[in-house]
Amino acid sequence: MKYSSIKEAMEQGNGQISIRGWVHRERGSNKLKFLVLRDSTNIIQCVLKKEDFEKQWNEIDKLQIEASVELTGEIKKDERAPTGYEVQVKKINIVGISENYPINKDQSIEFLADNRHLWLRSRRMTAILKIRSTVFGAIDEFFKKEGFYEYHSPIFQAVQCEGGSELFRVDYFGRKDVFLAQTWQLYAEPAIFALEKIYTISPSFRAEKSKTSRHLTEYWHAEMEVAWATFEDIQDYGERLIKHVVKTVLDKNKPELQLLERDISKLEPTVNKPFVRMTYTQALKVLKEKFNMNIEWGKDLRTIEEEKLTELYDVPIICTYYPKKVKAFYMTEDSKNPEVVQGCDFLAPEGNGEIVGGSHREHDLEKIKSRLKEQGEDPAQYEFYLDTRRYGSVPHGGFGLGVERLIRWICGLDTIKDAIPFPRTIERYKP
Ligand code: 4AD
Ligand code: MG
Repeated sequence: MKYSSIKEAMEQGNGQISIRGWVHRERGSNKLKFLVLRDSTNIIQCVLKKEDFEKQWNEIDKLQIEASVELTGEIKKDERAPTGYEVQVKKINIVGISENYPINKDQSIEFLADNRHLWLRSRRMTAILKIRSTVFGAIDEFFKKEGFYEYHSPIFQAVQCEGGSELFRVDYFGRKDVFLAQTWQLYAEPAIFALEKIYTISPSFRAEKSKTSRHLTEYWHAEMEVAWATFEDIQDYGERLIKHVVKTVLDKNKPELQLLERDISKLEPTVNKPFVRMTYTQALKVLKEKFNMNIEWGKDLRTIEEEKLTELYDVPIICTYYPKKVKAFYMTEDSKNPEVVQGCDFLAPEGNGEIVGGSHREHDLEKIKSRLKEQGEDPAQYEFYLDTRRYGSVPHGGFGLGVERLIRWICGLDTIKDAIPFPRTIERYKP
């Protein structure tokens, strides 16, 4: 038997078809059973008449939501059906019966989180997961087209990169100085001397005690590192990457965005217009002028301030030249003003805030060592990294994109937790 997907069956539009999937909705009378069947492509209404199934009717009558079935029948247009087609079923094979499915109407967020393994089957999660798949593919496609090599760093690491307080310590055969990767960066910089342009998409881990709609403890991190790059090159790569990803989703996933009720006019400017670029110092001025928010120069931008800034523009903001003391030790000190560094955050519109963090990398060995010490780190632990500055150092830089943060913005989700199949947060690591 050759099975069509529901999408293919609807494209065929008439005649005999065989499809298979799961019961999405059901209702029956003593003469008829209506099943709305779901597969990965769509849903379709199917009708079974008792007179056609005398022997099987007992089983058919008892079919419940999420039972899996194979059907053969006649498909035809029907305006009243949920997706415009109906199948008159002539043959049915019940593959797996379903017990009382725990997820029905009006369930709490907690309940859905406890039943995440089942909630994945919802049309909403299915739509998000399809967009997620497009996003991963588009990131990969962008870097490959730009001539980057895919490169992999270890997940078990012996150094911190983005702040020690956010490290997950691992019991490594009794050793306690082993951490889960926060970033690939310190293990990526050594490889640009071999490959020059590299990227990865890999899990990163942050022991952040933040219960917000944009923090996960485990997230997917798309990172790149480029030899010979200027600070502007890094920003340009980031802008083009995001444009490419958003454009690809708009090309491929209109039905999913529609199902999520996403207003795509909010995404189109990102594809068509240049991003806004401003320095941190300019950002403080804008916040003061537009919102009367007074932020002391030198303080990091908080979520609320990022949110306000992004409300002003319909494209991402690339915010640059942050105060040295709020940024990581490896960022290049600006030659004109040593109080600021060549670091950039990309802030996504509609209050989404930071989705990318990147920088040019400091080349001065002594400056790196002294900034490590200021942060309470022992430069001796970083010897392998410091060698990148000893043997043929070249200007370079890179960035990291939080893939779930990007997906959250593209899909217009209330929380980052819905951008990943099984979210890991400070409160939840099950199922
Ligand atoms: O700004 P971050 O900390 O930068 C780095 O890790 C650099 N080493 C990247 C690089 O230059 N290769 O993190 C980069 C991005 C953030 O902009 C954010 O999108 C995401 O990672 N991110 C998180 N996403 C979800 N949950 C969290 N707890 C995140 N922390 C960071
Ligand atoms: Mg950051």
